[in-house]
Amino acid sequence: MSVSLRVNIIGLLFGKPATLFTSLDRMPVTSSTPLLQTNIDGLEPIARGKVRDIYDAGEHLLFVATDRISAFDVVLPNGIPHKGEVLTKLSMFWFDFLKDVVPTHFVTADVDEYPENLRAHKDQLDGRSMLVKKLDMVPIECVARGYVSGSGWKDYQKTGAVCGVKLPDGLRMNGLLAEPIFTPATKAETGHDENISFEQATEIIGQDLCAKLRDLTLDIFSRAGQHALACGLLLADTKFEFGQLNGEIVLGDEVLTPDSSRYWPLEFYQAGKPMPSYDKQFVRDYLETLDWDKTAPGPELPASIIEKTSEKYLEAYYTLTDEDL
Ligand SMILES: Nc1ncnc2c1ncn2[C@@H]1O[C@H](COP(=O)(O)OP(=O)(O)OP(=O)(O)O)[C@@H](O)[C@H]1O
Ligand SMILES: [Mg+2]
Repeated sequence: MSVSLRVNIIGLLFGKPATLFTSLDRMPVTSSTPLLQTNIDGLEPIARGKVRDIYDAGEHLLFVATDRISAFDVVLPNGIPHKGEVLTKLSMFWFDFLKDVVPTHFVTADVDEYPENLRAHKDQLDGRSMLVKKLDMVPIECVARGYVSGSGWKDYQKTGAVCGVKLPDGLRMNGLLAEPIFTPATKAETGHDENISFEQATEIIGQDLCAKLRDLTLDIFSRAGQHALACGLLLADTKFEFGQLNGEIVLGDEVLTPDSSRYWPLEFYQAGKPMPSYDKQFVRDYLETLDWDKTAPGPELPASIIEKTSEKYLEAYYTLTDEDL
């Protein structure tokens, strides 16, 4: 049996796309082969985040979501199959969902429309990348919270407030807020972003812009939350990043992905109880069983954890869009 046929049969058995190729050397990068880092001839990324590689594509930026996964702020050595594709296509879903509410930085995800030097790298870019407009980014993160969770819960326990927003006594962990709140954060170059009050945010970006971004953030959050709810998910909180282009406010970055948002399955929700992270919980639970000090380098993940995590990302996509990848 030829190598390609054998691999295709193995692919079929494991439910992976059966891509035809003639030898293992020429095995194309399929979406189920995790991509840890992009390699574009003659182009250096202008940034490699924990997950994304970003390139200057002339008029636009090329955003590539790799399959890297981080936990406790450390990038782990394994990739998660389909993760980059889910992050990209879920952002695209939300850009389309929100297009009448706010201009977005999305230009195209069709590699055939990319500049010529990028088109040759379709095997790496297809499905996981997009061209976006270059924005002058607003230097704060716009967070909306409908529930008191994560750093919000920590702040509330200490001060009874989150980002200077006084909350009623007696709220429970992961409890529903009477109404969603805007809780900005700094964009730390290194280390953790820091929660700041609305007043502190106005000192950084000015009163006018800050008020506009607060209203827009809460509006988008509520629309997205209603959609998520109709899909059986609670959108507990999320982070947006906005930029400006020709004096207009534009929604940038990734949008309402499991990496930038807390989604909880409605059927398992209970105030006062820790809620598992929708996507990374298997990874975090596994890492907690190890004697690892949560500094780089991170440990290898077992195949079963990688597979279950991949399924969760795919499930998030399917649940929110009602479509398979
Ligand atoms: N349209 C845009 N134009 C210019 N910069 C953008 C645009 N959209 C997003 N950005 C910026 O690009 C960067 C995206 O980086 P990325 O999310 O990959 O890494 P990061 O935010 O530094 O780290 P993390 O991995 O924790 O998210 C952010 O600094 C974001 O503010
Ligand atoms: Mg980011």
